[in-house]
Amino acid sequence: MKNSRNYYKIKNLDTGTVINENDIKQTRNISYSVLEVTYDYQKIKRILTKPFLNKNIPSIDKYYYLFPIQKSDRLISLNEGNTPLYKSLNIIKNLGLENLYFKHEGFNPTGAFKDRGSVVEITKALAYKAKAIVLASTGNMAASISAYSAKAHIPCFVFIPDSTPESKLAQTLYYGAKIIKVRGAYDQAAQLAIECAKKYNFFLAGDYAFRAEGQKSQAYEIILQLGLKSPDYIFVPVGNGTNMYAIWKGFNEFYEMHIIDKLPKMIGIQVVSYNAIYQAYKRKALTIKPISQTTKTVATAIAVKNPSDAGKVLKLIRESKGEMMCTTDREIIKAQADLAKSESIFAEPSSLVVYAGLKKYIKRHKLNSKSKIVCVLTGHGLKDPVSGLNSLTHSIYQIKSNIEINKIFNQIQ
Ligand code: F0G
Repeated sequence: MKNSRNYYKIKNLDTGTVINENDIKQTRNISYSVLEVTYDYQKIKRILTKPFLNKNIPSIDKYYYLFPIQKSDRLISLNEGNTPLYKSLNIIKNLGLENLYFKHEGFNPTGAFKDRGSVVEITKALAYKAKAIVLASTGNMAASISAYSAKAHIPCFVFIPDSTPESKLAQTLYYGAKIIKVRGAYDQAAQLAIECAKKYNFFLAGDYAFRAEGQKSQAYEIILQLGLKSPDYIFVPVGNGTNMYAIWKGFNEFYEMHIIDKLPKMIGIQVVSYNAIYQAYKRKALTIKPISQTTKTVATAIAVKNPSDAGKVLKLIRESKGEMMCTTDREIIKAQADLAKSESIFAEPSSLVVYAGLKKYIKRHKLNSKSKIVCVLTGHGLKDPVSGLNSLTHSIYQIKSNIEINKIFNQIQ
């Protein structure tokens, strides 16, 4: 990497002071959630010119000036990013839209958007000489962090809730991580991860400041893929809310550097059984009341009772004049099958809250048919192919003799 990447400062939001990274190296149990990374946009602007951005550099390399990574750091990358932005061809006909896009983050190395954040987190963990990584996850972050930890040769321990799909457990185990199953929801797992990070002085990975810095590159890519233009609307699934905040930060940075001349409306969508942010939005409050019940849902990846970045989401929704919504399991399962059948796009159930949400949104709001809308599909369908499968069993024929095959095929003529 030729890039000089020292254009950032890390601020402690509680004290308002700039942090010397050498201090973090000695106290890895620092709560990363109170950190914020800021950049010298005036300097970076001179490098990230439109001709430079249009140059076809593979993966997210070209944005490293906007990551909190130093020139001397050994970068732990698996060629993440550069995911497809599909333009809808078929479903737009029923929706009355002309410019609907799906950003398929399932095409990242471990099948989810998480890899963009894991580059930054594990590069920092290595720079801070972490002896082990600890995190909590509903499955995707587990798989992603374990892959990047393996590449960095750092042991990785993951706390996961009961409901995590086996496919995600398997992926995590193949990358060599150790899994600690927690009887309870994600939130209990998150608490345990924090406590262990402090007690054993391990590097705490997860939905904290460094992750958001990598994940904001989704916004940069969408802008580039739309010809250096901002879309009008972005639909994002919400669990902790870190990703929605990251995408918003990415758009704001390109706006500040005059690469785009407007910002999109941000629409966040939760699943109805884990909708603490939606409830606060409805009450016009800036703080949430955590969900008390643990309920079964097909959207296991976003089943978070007390989202850690709820405050940031509620603030950015106001700033962007966006909206918070929620969808049911039924709507999610239907949206998953519809999108796969009509656009050949297979994404995991938690991602599909965006398409289910979009269908509701356009019923309530009069949208200009030319509006540019981007739905972020956060994980690949193969990540959790089973949760929604019951709705499709009518397409499986169990035959006892070859005569029955004729009956099935005759339906076509
Ligand atoms: N979509 C998928 C597929 C996810 O795995 C997650 C979060 C989200 C959306 C929500 O992102 O939390 O930043 O609002 N998954 C985390 C995990 C919690 O552990 O994999 P968020």
